[in-house]
Amino acid sequence: MSVRRLAEPAVQPAAFAFDEVKTTEAKTWIGKYPQGREQSAVIPLLMLAQEQEGWVTKAAIEHIADMLSMPYIRALEVATFYTQFQLKPVGTRAHIQVCGTTPCMLRGSEALMDVCRSKIHLEQFHPNADGTLSWEEVECLGACVNAPMVMIFKDTYEDLTPERLSEIIDEFEAGRGDSVRTGPQTERFYAAPASGFTSLKDEKNVLKATREAPSRKAGSGEGEAVPPSNAAKPKTDARVTSPALKSPSDVKVSPSVEKAESAPAPKENKAAANAAEPLVEDTRKQRSSREPSKGDAPTSEQVEGAPKSPDAGSTLSIAKTASSLSGKSAPAGDDVGEINPTVALARTAKGKRKPEEPEKPSLLDKDRPIGMERPAAPDELQMISGVGPKIEQILHSLGIFTFAQIAAWTPEERGWVDGYLRFRGRIEREDWVRQAKALADGGEAEYIRVFGKKPR
Ligand code: FES
Repeated sequence: MSVRRLAEPAVQPAAFAFDEVKTTEAKTWIGKYPQGREQSAVIPLLMLAQEQEGWVTKAAIEHIADMLSMPYIRALEVATFYTQFQLKPVGTRAHIQVCGTTPCMLRGSEALMDVCRSKIHLEQFHPNADGTLSWEEVECLGACVNAPMVMIFKDTYEDLTPERLSEIIDEFEAGRGDSVRTGPQTERFYAAPASGFTSLKDEKNVLKATREAPSRKAGSGEGEAVPPSNAAKPKTDARVTSPALKSPSDVKVSPSVEKAESAPAPKENKAAANAAEPLVEDTRKQRSSREPSKGDAPTSEQVEGAPKSPDAGSTLSIAKTASSLSGKSAPAGDDVGEINPTVALARTAKGKRKPEEPEKPSLLDKDRPIGMERPAAPDELQMISGVGPKIEQILHSLGIFTFAQIAAWTPEERGWVDGYLRFRGRIEREDWVRQAKALADGGEAEYIRVFGKKPR
């Protein structure tokens, strides 16, 4: 951002005061803010000063700071930060801001600036010989669809050619700026396609009136201005858009009649449901055979061993209800081990296929990791993402107390623990060994270095 300084003292007026109209406007703006927050009106007040004087003078900044009981430096900061404020005298009849950002540049803004150079001054911010016109290049002014464009005061002039800009400058110089049409300078309707409408060409069917034939004033036959609050409301024959229809309806309809009249809800699209990632949707739907991707949170089926059948959803919802009724919700990472009997019952509700749980590996299995006596200060295993209080308790019962133990697990040992906890591959997916190694090597700092985030 370029340095923005106040104009040199030689051109600064000695004093500033809002005229009568602007004083009223300033009071209105100040009144919009709560008591004690009047300083928030500094930007509108600086704009009023600029509209009155053409630019923001040092005296105006100080005057406004006094009005708002704020330090001069704070008002100065605002005035010098925002490029909407002109800090030096600009053309008295027009200061032309030419957008030079990419869309406008690609559509010929350089040629517009050449016009300004030739008709006003070679350099930006230099008023012409009479002091009536000046120009500057600015960043995007938000009318990119109608590029290239310029802004003069609060109006934009779009879809410009060098010739058209030249004419506009002449009009302003002659004091007839008010008569120049604002917006697109072509036949384009606002930002509609430059080549004319390509869709919604039959708007008459929707609006019952076209833009060429505006709606008629009731009784007079003349065009009627649509109140802004109603301008966007569709005018169709549908009852829901009828202004005569009050809401809520005082006509009571029995639920069965309403149901018979209602359109049925669309059936769930299984193909689409399967295509979406559960993590993205943050919801569970019927899914048939989507391969889990890396980073997937274990689904209910994976964790609980529920069968992947069309009834899985309903069974799961019963289980959820049962578990909520029991008032228990296990913390993250603890959805293992013994199953609440109510939930187990719910899982086999309606006599459907009983979920097949693989057998737990034996505690005497050769692949069981060797445990140790509980040390005086066991590691906080819950720092490993995926280990909750309950899992930590189970690990302790197996003699696992330190990160180093987990970091040293062989694939067979990992498989044993995974099976014992009925994790179905979660230990690998959650990378327990790498997590444990980082924590064993250098604690939280090493974990952050390896994983780029804090351990949980
Ligand atoms: S790029 Fe010129 S108005 Fe956005």
